[in-house]
Amino acid sequence: MTVLFTHISKLVGIGEHNGPIRGRALAELASIDDAYLLVEDGVIAGFGPMYELELRVPQLPKNVMDVFGQMVLPCWCDSHTHLVFAGSREDEFIDKIKGLSYAEIAAKGGGILNSAKKLQDTPEEELYKAALTRLNQLAALGTGAIEIKSGYGLSVEAELKMLRVIKKLKQQSDVKIKATFLGAHTYPALYKENHEGYLREIIDEMLPVIAGEQLADYIDVFCETGFFSPEEMTTICKAGAAYQLKPKLHVNQLNSIGAIEAGIKLQALSLDHLETLTDDEIQLLGAYKGCSTLLPTAAFFLRMQFQPARKLIDAGAAVTLASDFNPGSSPSGNMNLVNAISCIQMKMLPEEVINASTLNGACAMELENQVGSIKIGKTANLIFTKPVPSLAYLFYSFGANHIDKVMLNGNWVKA
Ligand code: NIG
Ligand code: FE
Repeated sequence: MTVLFTHISKLVGIGEHNGPIRGRALAELASIDDAYLLVEDGVIAGFGPMYELELRVPQLPKNVMDVFGQMVLPCWCDSHTHLVFAGSREDEFIDKIKGLSYAEIAAKGGGILNSAKKLQDTPEEELYKAALTRLNQLAALGTGAIEIKSGYGLSVEAELKMLRVIKKLKQQSDVKIKATFLGAHTYPALYKENHEGYLREIIDEMLPVIAGEQLADYIDVFCETGFFSPEEMTTICKAGAAYQLKPKLHVNQLNSIGAIEAGIKLQALSLDHLETLTDDEIQLLGAYKGCSTLLPTAAFFLRMQFQPARKLIDAGAAVTLASDFNPGSSPSGNMNLVNAISCIQMKMLPEEVINASTLNGACAMELENQVGSIKIGKTANLIFTKPVPSLAYLFYSFGANHIDKVMLNGNWVKA
């Protein structure tokens, strides 16, 4: 199918980038006012200013849509989520309101172990349906590519169940999906005093099956005090590397324990969370080729200090934004909210936010050749806004839905 969109008020995120956008360049966002865009068979086939249309597209296709007043952006690329989960945890939300800390809730048997218990007891089909519903909701909010982690299974059987759900989502959805194995999310109760035993289970029992069934693209570890140490993370990632699984890592959420240095040595594709950073670590991230992925809705929900986005940008880092969608620390996967909070609380410019949520998100999933910008040959994953006065308005006027419609792979997403 061929469709030509005309009179786009602003066509945003035109990109010829190799690799993530870093430092000051994040504030540069190419766009065309009063533009046309041609989509053929689900792929971007042409675009330019309206005054060039006659010259560039002399033979108009049958299907022409005048979208006067609407902006068009590349879809959001959400490179860090835990979208597959069973049940919600609003009881912990209330505990937090009453003053309990994240660590205290975990000690009460809440937290990740709470979600793991629920997930272990939920059949695969039920998990799949709930995850697909969430995924469709996010697609209508503009998410066109997403990374989804396991990590609420914590047993061989349940981790494989989660990863099989993600594989099925990949096969069924127009959203592009990457799967990450996060067996090392926390130590299951059985292995609380026997870390070596759980590492062996991950390395000897989970990884070979995951590789055999091609259930994961990446490997992740929650490197944190009381969870996995940098040494344990290194052991797990080296085992993953034997199966070509590159690391995308949870680091420096609560404490600075050497995870950044270890993650850089492991050549992680992305280092994620980063609420707690020393000045030296900011400099390391500034010089590191991989993505520095900030998850501001997790900081918001847990009432923590926000990630130091400005310092990271000044240091030259490839700042990337993602939702961390999960039932414990970010029960929202709405990238529009992530973007607004990033402008409001982390003082990122709207242009920086869009680059960080599109092209850089795509890089953090190695999808930059397919999505993340308006470029001929890339998949037609497009956000059409309602009429808005400016780009900045999208994030300034937060909490309202400024999206009129979303196209994925050339198909309209049902709202
Ligand atoms: O990314 N920090 C570790 N994992 C999740 C939260 C997990 C949970 O509380 O369920 C996160 O924030
Ligand atoms: Fe996370």
